[in-house]
Amino acid sequence: MKKVLVTGGAGYIGSHTVVELFNHGFIPVIVDNFSNSDERVLQGLEDILGFKPILYRSDCADYQSLKDVFQAETPDAVIHFAAFKAVGESTQQPTRYYRNNIDSLLTVLELMEEFQVRDIVFSSSCTVYGQPDELPVSETSKQKDATSPYGYTKQVCERILMDACVARPELRCVLLRYFNPIGAHPSGLIGELPFGIPNNLVPYIAQTAAGIREKLVIHGNDYQTADGTCIRDYIHVCDLAMAHVRALEWIDLQTCACEAFNLGQGQGNSVKEVIDTFISVNNVPVRFEIGPRRTGDVEQVWADATKAQRVLNWKTEKSLAAALQDTWRWQQHLSK
Ligand code: UD1
Repeated sequence: MKKVLVTGGAGYIGSHTVVELFNHGFIPVIVDNFSNSDERVLQGLEDILGFKPILYRSDCADYQSLKDVFQAETPDAVIHFAAFKAVGESTQQPTRYYRNNIDSLLTVLELMEEFQVRDIVFSSSCTVYGQPDELPVSETSKQKDATSPYGYTKQVCERILMDACVARPELRCVLLRYFNPIGAHPSGLIGELPFGIPNNLVPYIAQTAAGIREKLVIHGNDYQTADGTCIRDYIHVCDLAMAHVRALEWIDLQTCACEAFNLGQGQGNSVKEVIDTFISVNNVPVRFEIGPRRTGDVEQVWADATKAQRVLNWKTEKSLAAALQDTWRWQQHLSK
């Protein structure tokens, strides 16, 4: 059984990936500094898995503490999730974002070299495309300037990995460009745990439905779309987690690799459609009003995800409705 170091494994996508890794015969080892993850996820993971996963409370930008983990565990592969991810915050604190997101990847890569670990799956984002010229966005679409420091850290980290692959041809690297992850584990035992006021649409809807927020503000309804609200490609977090398993299975068959894959449904939904679907599938009211546009928002973006299907044998299985039902189950679990 292959041992996989999952940096940021107590986070939203990381924790769901830990579950799928275990379900598919891998041994996940979580490294997390809990800077943006909640201890409650550990109980959820234990309830789903039936045991406590291996966990190190370490900062993966801290060379010595990550080295201790490599020494103790001798992993076969790394999935690198650990990063700050709030777009707005990154514009307020760019130095902190560049320091954290880039340092942690560099430290992981240095230790992979030292311990002769060949395989890395990197958590990237559709944000690397900036405001796209063409839809759907494919892996070969031109990358425009990033619209935030967060987005730029993803572009820079991808570049660092590409350069590392040239310098060390034995490296096998997969860059996974996520579109908009939503939903929660169907058990309702793990899910997204935003600290403070959520920035993202679906956690905000769920908290409004639960009465934690008074009302949701739709950031603009004057876009050039059918109902005037922005369009995104929403993907269930469990589908996303499975893609990491497929990526590890695929790189294991390669002699060398540095490939990027879009992960999305391959179609878009508007903000209004997401709200309406949440209300109808869960049969709960959600108060909302129309507000001004949010600075930096892209009007519409969705993925051409056919490369992941063709090469990784992966595609999404779960619908928007299922994701929103799972979100609500998780929100209710939190409110208990
Ligand atoms: C952004 C990033 C993405 C990142 C993700 C998670 C970009 C282009 N995208 O996605 O890379 O992975 O955050 O942090 O940088 N909305 C409302 N009201 C709200 C909240 C959101 O109307 O209260 C709307 C937004 O205007 C947007 C849509 O919902 O049209 C989705 O927003 P959000 O969930 O924040 O994700 P993105 O901005 O698409």
